[in-house]
Amino acid sequence: MRTVVVSGAASGIGAATTALLRDQGDRVITVDQRDADVVADLSTVAGRGEAVAAVQELTDVVHGVVPCAGVAGLTGVDPALVVSVNYFGAVELVRGLRPQLAAADGASVVLLASNSITCQPGWRESVADLCLADDEAAARADAAQTEAVHVYPATKAALARWARREGVTEDWIGQGIRLNAVAPGMIATPMTDQLREDPELGVFADVYPTAVARPGRPEEIAALIGFLLSDASSLMVGSVVYADGGTDAIMNP
Ligand code: NAI
Repeated sequence: MRTVVVSGAASGIGAATTALLRDQGDRVITVDQRDADVVADLSTVAGRGEAVAAVQELTDVVHGVVPCAGVAGLTGVDPALVVSVNYFGAVELVRGLRPQLAAADGASVVLLASNSITCQPGWRESVADLCLADDEAAARADAAQTEAVHVYPATKAALARWARREGVTEDWIGQGIRLNAVAPGMIATPMTDQLREDPELGVFADVYPTAVARPGRPEEIAALIGFLLSDASSLMVGSVVYADGGTDAIMNP
């Protein structure tokens, strides 16, 4: 039986992924700030350390990690929180579990990027650079210079670039650990419900065109994550896979 760690499992894409994996017989260790096997706040260094330690108490081997925990770049959201949860909360969880992933003899990590990287103009590139430089304090300070809406795609770009840069190194694929990312478009979850209610950004909820004329379902992203966790995707390393109903294809032909 495989053991997979899913963060953000209490809601949306993380919940759908947990349900899919459990249905197919995997053991899932859920991590979230509420309603999870491991309750931890991934926005803080201490909370991430607690999460890693708690997972390590539960298992010596991890076959997959899916860090879904994230916060949206909405009006009134602290841009620094977006940095700490979306980028460092994901990367530090994965890094912390690297020994357990290496012990699996063939493991897979699926990061949650976003099609906002290529479909939302004008995001703050310097935040992505500072995330990739591993400087959380500087990334938070730089993010605080702007609004959360411009920081969210930067954290997602940093995740995608981290998967591509680290994924090909001795530390990761050299240990049999595949790093890949998915880039969903608009998916109907509590996160996008919040977007629709945003007084300033709500109007943008349906502004991006899709070829399928509907938002995605969390199960459609979970299915892709399930594939990337499986041996069927064994040649995929450092890939960023879009699943957005055609938005990126329309906007970047
Ligand atoms: P959601 O809002 O439904 O679920 C997010 C989960 O993360 C919640 O269970 C929440 O409790 C948890 N979380 C938030 N802050 C946390 C913290 N500090 N510590 C621990 N857990 C925390 O979100 P959704 O829509 O399921 O998104 C999942 C991931 O997919 C996120 O990373 C999001 O950025 C990404 N994504 C979502 C898209 C969408 O349209 N819904 C599009 C592209 C990417």
